[in-house]
Amino acid sequence: METPSYLSVQGLSKIYFGTTGGVQAANFELPEGSFFTLLGPSGCGKTTTLRCIAGLETPTRGIIRLGDRDFFNSATGANIPLNLRNIGMVFQSYAIWPHLTVFENVAFPLRVGREKYSSADIARMVGLALDSVDLAGLGKRSATQLSGGQQQRVALARAIVRKPSLLLLDEPLSNLDALLRDDMRAELKSLQGRLGVTTVYVTHDQAEALEMSDMIAVMRGGNIVQLGAPRDIYHDPVDGFVASFMGSSNIFPGTAEAAARAGAICAVQLVNGPRVLARARVDMAAGQSVVISVRPEDVTLVERHQTQDSQNALNGIVRSSGFLGPICNYHVEVGQLSIQARINSRTSFDKGAEIAAIFAADKALALPGDASPAS
Ligand SMILES: Nc1ncnc2c1ncn2[C@@H]1O[C@H](COP(=O)(O)OP(=O)(O)OP(=O)(O)O)[C@@H](O)[C@H]1O
Ligand SMILES: [Mg+2]
Repeated sequence: METPSYLSVQGLSKIYFGTTGGVQAANFELPEGSFFTLLGPSGCGKTTTLRCIAGLETPTRGIIRLGDRDFFNSATGANIPLNLRNIGMVFQSYAIWPHLTVFENVAFPLRVGREKYSSADIARMVGLALDSVDLAGLGKRSATQLSGGQQQRVALARAIVRKPSLLLLDEPLSNLDALLRDDMRAELKSLQGRLGVTTVYVTHDQAEALEMSDMIAVMRGGNIVQLGAPRDIYHDPVDGFVASFMGSSNIFPGTAEAAARAGAICAVQLVNGPRVLARARVDMAAGQSVVISVRPEDVTLVERHQTQDSQNALNGIVRSSGFLGPICNYHVEVGQLSIQARINSRTSFDKGAEIAAIFAADKALALPGDASPAS
């Protein structure tokens, strides 16, 4: 049985007058409690989509429905104002007020909302919110006396204090340094799970998206180009753009030698490189331009005389190696190509070693489109 949709976004478009920016015909359905991420390069329309859901932006077309309420429906004219949507939001710049205490920052939505709360209720609700982000006891502090990570928690506490029906987070970790970001990533995910609040998260960081999300929408130029579980997007990207955006470092342009059905193994002549066997991601025509994507962890390095059974064995020379503890990262020169391999560090090859880079045909994807990670 299909999980019922909680947040439904259908044909959502926001076209800014006189520009090509915005978002075009976005569709997604989220079950209640899910963690959904809009992922893509700068300017691809992530914030625009989020602002439309929040009610900060009026869409040009489409439907945004939460539960059985139409937040926005261009066909019926429904458009619920943002203060009646009961949404918690954290912006990239936390936008906490420096002249207020931590307590008053978090209490703010309770004081300005339509619903009136007693002082006792406000104290209780703010206390719970501060507890849940591990800031209990800091209520009296001025917001300026907090670290970046603590300010980020205040912004989160403020977003959840009214028990929102939906949480929208726009790059909430981007102001933090790398270590803190990793910690906060796990913490945020666990808080979201405890609260069970359906969350739409925006980031351009693929590692963040992979680790946190139940489902990811990869966006490019205002369009959702792929929608799926992190595993599917990582291992089965629809095109060269998604593959490279999801961190695939071995992406090589080439030409399909013959027509092939989606899923079949096909031969591809790489530009300035050898001929390789790969799995066609979609139906391919003979002579079609494609890109090949092979994950560095799917490439193995062997002595040249050990390549007997390999479907793809490319003779190359080790140009560099980086020891990362459990694994070693190699760059191998194969003619004019540089192939990256990530292998168990117990095997080691010297710089300049003449080796073969091998990979199975079904681990190499032949994808339509170009490899450019540009927006
Ligand atoms: N108010 C506006 N008026 C005109 N164009 C806009 C407006 N807001 C955004 N755009 C354009 O719409 C496109 C999408 O912008 P958006 O802010 O949604 O991108 P983003 O994916 O959030 O990027 P970033 O990662 O840089 O925050 C961009 O081309 C942007 O220039
Ligand atoms: Mg943005």
